[in-house]
Amino acid sequence: MTFEEELALKTEEVEEIIERFLPREEGLQKTIFEAVNYSVRAGGKRLRPILMLETFRLFDGHGKTIEPFIAAVEFIHTSSLIHDDLPCMDNDTLRRGKETTWHKYGEDMGVLSGDALMMYAMETASDAFSYNLNTRNVGTALGILAKKTGIYGMIGGQTVDVEETGKKLTEEQLDFIYSLKTCALLEAAMMCGAVLADASHEDVLNVEKIAHKIGMAFQIRDDILDVTATTEELGKNAGSDEKNEKTTYVTLYGIEEAEKKVEALTEEAVHEMENLTGENRFLRELLLSLVRRNK
Ligand code: IPE
Ligand code: IPE
Ligand code: MG
Ligand code: MG
Ligand code: MG
Repeated sequence: MTFEEELALKTEEVEEIIERFLPREEGLQKTIFEAVNYSVRAGGKRLRPILMLETFRLFDGHGKTIEPFIAAVEFIHTSSLIHDDLPCMDNDTLRRGKETTWHKYGEDMGVLSGDALMMYAMETASDAFSYNLNTRNVGTALGILAKKTGIYGMIGGQTVDVEETGKKLTEEQLDFIYSLKTCALLEAAMMCGAVLADASHEDVLNVEKIAHKIGMAFQIRDDILDVTATTEELGKNAGSDEKNEKTTYVTLYGIEEAEKKVEALTEEAVHEMENLTGENRFLRELLLSLVRRNK
């Protein structure tokens, strides 16, 4: 099997899990269910759920405990995209090849469906308590997911990103923003996979470091694509950063330097995988493939 075929299979596998946890579209609050399901079903690479599942497998994890967490991390990620696209944030109209949630359902439902998905993610993940005798690991994973999403994680990062829009930032400030807005959720994805597979504390800390580097590389690649790819290729509005006068790795160092940074960070991360108690060839290939991703 080629890497692409394997990736397609894994994507299908997590898609099927995510679909099972989506709410039914019924009841007086039906609109929120529709907006939530529309946003999750619009697609996307499903990178965070795949990273979680493959990290779980690297540490020899078995069983269904991981499934609600797989759905939860994609719900949180999708909620962040819904809010990121709002008129008061990046003001974008296309996401995952479709109209953005606020553009389709109105700004009010854009705000509410982002809130809804973030909280529904925690509701979903907490299902794992009923699957698992090792409830301590489930509790630890829930805490990681909440912290990396909230004010010390993704939301904290988006706060600075939005507040500093239009200003010239230093590399330190940019690293702070990326560490929180993007790295934190990737760290949560991989750390939860490790914790739920009962990995040692040392392994979980090493996974966090690896995911951090992958997160930095991922956001820098996102900055590059915002400039080099088309809206059709991305399925989201290209040129969004320039429109919003964002400082990015590309505005600071240019495309070529930014590409080198993506490569270097990824190489370091993959090298550090050797420190882990376990191996996963597919995960290694997946991390390497992100260097040249084109959407
Ligand atoms: C986009 O994430 C937001 C960033 C953190 C750069 P993805 O590129 O993973 O978006 P989808 O899930 O594939 O749509
Ligand atoms: C957003 O970064 C990161 C999130 C936490 C959503 P961007 O604003 O660059 O993400 P895109 O390019 O709109 O996907
Ligand atoms: Mg943004
Ligand atoms: Mg954006
Ligand atoms: Mg971007």
